Amino acid sequence: MRIRPRRNRRSDAIRGLVREPLVRPDQLVHPIFLLPGEGKRETLTTLPGYPRLSADEAEREIEEMLALGVSSFISFPAVPDDKKDTVATYGSSPENFYLTSARRWKEKYPEICLISDVAMDPYSSDGHDGLVVGSRIDNDKTLPILTDMSVAQAQAGFDYLGPSDMMDGRVGYMRDALDKAGYTETGILSYTAKYASAFYGPFRHALDSAPREGSTAPTHKKSYQMDPANRREALREAFLDSEEGADVLMVKPAVHYMDIISDLRQNSQLPICCYHVSGECAMLLGAIERGWLDESAIFETITSLGRAGADMIITYVGRRYVASL
Ligand code: PBG
Repeated sequence: MRIRPRRNRRSDAIRGLVREPLVRPDQLVHPIFLLPGEGKRETLTTLPGYPRLSADEAEREIEEMLALGVSSFISFPAVPDDKKDTVATYGSSPENFYLTSARRWKEKYPEICLISDVAMDPYSSDGHDGLVVGSRIDNDKTLPILTDMSVAQAQAGFDYLGPSDMMDGRVGYMRDALDKAGYTETGILSYTAKYASAFYGPFRHALDSAPREGSTAPTHKKSYQMDPANRREALREAFLDSEEGADVLMVKPAVHYMDIISDLRQNSQLPICCYHVSGECAMLLGAIERGWLDESAIFETITSLGRAGADMIITYVGRRYVASL
């Protein structure tokens, strides 16, 4: 045997020489579940050990992540029921704690990259990402609501806006509204290929944002989020988002959609982000907690996402990934 691949695996030193690039801490995005008020810190049961925080408590989290080399954050609001209505009014209200926290963090930590979520669901009494009209989610009537929300978020200082709603045409619509309002520098990190997935469960629990039983619309999001079977359709969405002016394309979920990450990486010149979603992280964390998996499963998962072609990764296990490096 002349060719023996094992020669290149003989020692740590040799393995280090031949190792392909790992995901760096500055490629990670750390999610923050934001509570209104001050001094609040709760732990989620459906995403073991992960917190929901008020803006002041989140500052501690931001500082800890910065010390680890993670400098990007995406936040999501847990909105009290009495602030929800059918048209998501609170989403663009100047008193919205989501917007005031962004302003506060960007003033205190100007070096961070702060990413928003643009969709109606945290503010919607129907629990849908778009406007419910009868039994349907109305695409075109949702667009102005999303653009109002976008301009308010840009004004609050978010660096990238993340439309997660999957309405048709929203990226172009948002881009025009942002430019018109003077926010030409604010980027759009588009949830390009977002699938109708069971893996968002812990997130919806954290924000109490699931589609509501009492709504006239269905309790699922399949009329706007993509069918998990569809691979080619992701390229169609990627083409549209690029044409409409997106700065970054996202695939979501991540681990179960690595073929999509790879397809987009090979077919687009834009940076590719993937969202290692709550349910995917909960599987890992739950199994590690029970001793069914070793902690190194976290390193392996994040490494695999980088290998598939993700330039940036939103994940709830970033802290533990960095600790494993
Ligand atoms: C809301 C939104 C969701 C997630 C991010 N933004 C949930 C959904 O679409 O129902 C899920 C993220 C996660 O599970 O970690 N539009």
